[in-house]
Parts: sequence; C-alpha cells; structure tokens
Amino acid sequence: MKLKDRVIIVFGGANGIGQASVLLLAEEGAKIVIADRDVEMAEKIAGILKDQGKSAIGLACDASVEDDIKAVIATTVDSYGGIHGLVNCVGVDIVGTVEDTESDLWDRSMEVNLKSVYYSCHYAMPHLKKNGGSIVNISSVQALVPVKGYAAYATAKGGMISLTRSMANDFYEFGIRANVICPGEVETNLGANSKRFEEGISDAEKRIDPYRPLESFDTELRPSRILMPEDIGRVVVFLISDDSNAMNGHELVLDAGYILNTYNNNKE
Ligand SMILES: NC(=O)c1ccc[n+]([C@@H]2O[C@H](COP(=O)([O-])OP(=O)(O)OC[C@H]3O[C@@H](n4cnc5c(N)ncnc54)[C@H](O)[C@@H]3O)[C@@H](O)[C@H]2O)c1
Repeated sequence: MKLKDRVIIVFGGANGIGQASVLLLAEEGAKIVIADRDVEMAEKIAGILKDQGKSAIGLACDASVEDDIKAVIATTVDSYGGIHGLVNCVGVDIVGTVEDTESDLWDRSMEVNLKSVYYSCHYAMPHLKKNGGSIVNISSVQALVPVKGYAAYATAKGGMISLTRSMANDFYEFGIRANVICPGEVETNLGANSKRFEEGISDAEKRIDPYRPLESFDTELRPSRILMPEDIGRVVVFLISDDSNAMNGHELVLDAGYILNTYNNNKE
C-alpha cells in the first residue's frame, strides 16, 4: 500500500471527483478526513470506509468559511496526530460573462473556488511542514481554455494554478510538493450540487449552471470522451504518493483530448 497511515484531508470529498479520490486514497491505506458541506454524504462515505476496516472521518465544512477550515485542521490533528496531504476539490459552477456577472456572484466564485484553497493550505501548512507532504488542487481545463460565458469560474480556476506554483516554490525545502489537475468534462453532478447548496446564499442559484447532458454541448467543444471521477482520482493518488516525488508545481491536464479538439475545430 502506497499511503499506509498517511493522513489526507479531502475538501469536497463527499461527491464526484473528491469522493472517487477518497475511495482510491483509502484503498492505498491512507487515513482520510472528508470535509464537505454535504455532511450527510461525507459521513456516509466515512461510514462505508470504516465498515471496510479503513480509517475515515466525515466533517461538516463550508470551505468558504475560515473558521470551518480551521476546525477541520484542528480536528484532523487531534484525531490523527498530523497531516501528510491535502486535496482541494471543492467547487461550484457559476456562469456569466464579465459583463453580466454581478459583483456578489463574482465574489462567491472567488470565495468557494479559490479562497477556500488559500484557507486550507494556509492552516494546514504548519502541520505539513513537520512531515513534508503533498498538495493536490483540482482546477479545470477552463483555466487554460475557457468556455464562453464562464468568466468568474475560469478566473478562479486560473488562480488555483498560480497559487499551486507559488506554494511549490515557497515550500519545497520542507519536503512539500504542490501540483494541480485540470480536468476536462467529468461525469458528476457539479451543476445540480452547486444549485442545491448555493440556494439562499446569494442570488447565485439563478446563475448556477444547470446539469448539462453531453448532447447539449456544442459539437466543436465536445471532448473525445467524458471522463469518470475515477479517471481523476487515480491521478490524485499518484500525485499524493511518493510515485510522483519528482513532480512539483505542475499542472496535469486530464481532458481526453478536449483541448486538442477545440484547437483543431477552431482551425477549420
Ligand atoms: N465535473 C467536471 O466536469 C469538472 C471539470 C473540471 C473541474 N472540475 C472541478 O472538480 C471539482 C469537483 O467537482 P465535481 O465535478 O466532482 O462536482 P461535485 O459537485 O460532485 O463535487 C463538489 C463537492 O464540493 C462540495 N462543495 C461545494 N461547495 C462547497 C463549500 N462551499 N464547502 C464545502 N464543500 C463544498 C460539494 O458538496 C461536493 O461534494 C470542482 O472543483 C470542480 O470545479 C469539475
């Protein structure tokens, strides 16, 4: 087992890509903390892992709230004695061009999609510095090739790449690596989950992208295949483990040809 007794916190680990990562990290022997505002699902996944004899805790956390992140870090250290890895997988899908995105929605995208990563890394860093460790951030191909009408989402995802490189540069002497994954289209309920949980927080729910079936994508933007959450989860395990110990400050594009398709179609 590649991650025996390593303590890994997965923010946004209750559903989708985060959940797949949690299950695969636990397979490799990691002790997992699932921190998510979908606490029901976080506890359910932790329960399933415990029934399998693995070690996991599900915690309620709104990752846009500083005190919630501090509490997750404190509970992790109290329960497991330290932290060896972080996976930042929280995200909400927010649509709009720069012209039609109101400032509250812009702020919301920055808070949930980007500032949450600052909070988790800021508060985990003193603990990671004790053991060394690995940080994996989940950005998006939208950081590199934005789809039309996703300005606030694409900007936050782009910020994750810069933050990752900064941390890779600032902390390598402590044995800490930071890398970022840019997935293409992955089969999850990101749109529906965003809508469910953003309701009442701002008028954001009006602008959350509803779940879009594949057929609704413009032909030229269709990826050559839709990815499954496990496709990303396997690379999360690789980046958290020592198998990737030569990698620091990189972005891995996992898009099944999405960017190439876009490029080639734009040339025609
Ligand atoms: N699905 C895709 O096509 C795709 C593509 C590229 C990048 N991503 C990114 O992957 C990550 C995971 O998304 P997913 O597709 O698995 O969707 P998902 O909705 O299944 O998972 C997102 C998780 O984040 C949690 N979450 C959202 N806001 C939160 C908050 N404020 N505090 C705590 N938890 C919160 C949700 O409850 C959920 O468990 C996101 O960062 C998303 O932007 C997804």
